[in-house]
Amino acid sequence: MLDKVEELLQNVDTFTASTKEEVESFRIEYLGSKGILKSLFSEFKNVDPSQRKEFGQALNQLKKNAEEKVKSLQSNLEDQSLSEQKYGDLTRPGEPIALGARHPISIVKNKIIDVFNRIGFTISEGPEIEDDWHNFTALNLPEYHPARDMQDTFFIEKSDEAKDNVLLRTHTSSVQVRYMENNEPPIRTISPGRVFRNEDISARSHCIFHQIEGLYVDTDVSFADLKQTLLFFTKEMFGKSKIRLRPSYFPFTEPSAEVDIYWGLETETDYRITKGTGWLEIMGCGMVDPNVLKNCNIDPTKYSGYAFGMGIERIAMLLYQIPDIRKFYENDVRFLEQFKSAL
Ligand code: PHE
Repeated sequence: MLDKVEELLQNVDTFTASTKEEVESFRIEYLGSKGILKSLFSEFKNVDPSQRKEFGQALNQLKKNAEEKVKSLQSNLEDQSLSEQKYGDLTRPGEPIALGARHPISIVKNKIIDVFNRIGFTISEGPEIEDDWHNFTALNLPEYHPARDMQDTFFIEKSDEAKDNVLLRTHTSSVQVRYMENNEPPIRTISPGRVFRNEDISARSHCIFHQIEGLYVDTDVSFADLKQTLLFFTKEMFGKSKIRLRPSYFPFTEPSAEVDIYWGLETETDYRITKGTGWLEIMGCGMVDPNVLKNCNIDPTKYSGYAFGMGIERIAMLLYQIPDIRKFYENDVRFLEQFKSAL
């Protein structure tokens, strides 16, 4: 008899259930009015009096364990169904996580970097807060030079003497000055970065934008080298192979030129963005002025160089036919989601 109760105790211990029905039939089997315990208690009178105490204790234990088992299984199942109501089926596959997209300015910047990397240009970066020397003076723009007004400047500290001014860089040419000060030719570098100009915000211009400027300094660098590099760039970047160089002026290059690419006149948009000419201006360039080389401790009798600079927003607007520069800074996901790139 006792052995049987021992065995039942073990069965109760190991019993588990995954549905309410299973718990209920367990309850009926052990604790029901015709259940195992009922019938065991009715055997009580047949047990040898010397064993009754032990048998009684074992039965009570069995009853208690069975009751506790039912209670704990019921509450477990209850918790489970509550969490299912709250979270649904916890075993279902997860929702796909939306993938972010790179900002169009980053995509275009990376594309431009990729083109120049392929012909040996390294990347250089510098501070956005600059001193007067690196943004102006070293670039052949001494104090009172009228060309300082070509780029309206945000000053952080304006002193009586221009050389003490602290400002937000107006172009990344400042990075090239730093690079030349710290490296010996041959130099082949491009400087991407954010620049600042105190200009009214409109569809075509913004007070914060991005530039990539390039610099090549070595022995015997000629204007022909510059033109070939630019031709390679426009072919790779736009798939267009006709460019023209229009004479222009920058204080830090001599001679200087504006680069136009022949965009074509196939669609109505082509007419609009090229103002009916088929030509589009994409950047400024020129041969580094010997004064700039001298300011950066490079001997202009030994070395020559070329430089160019372009606005990344402008290139992105052309590539993606974006009519308004302000779109880049509004962080509107409907706009940003449209750009996907491996770069
Ligand atoms: N620094 C010039 C600008 O910001 C661009 C440029 C760079 C022009 C190099 C010529 C050579 O407008």
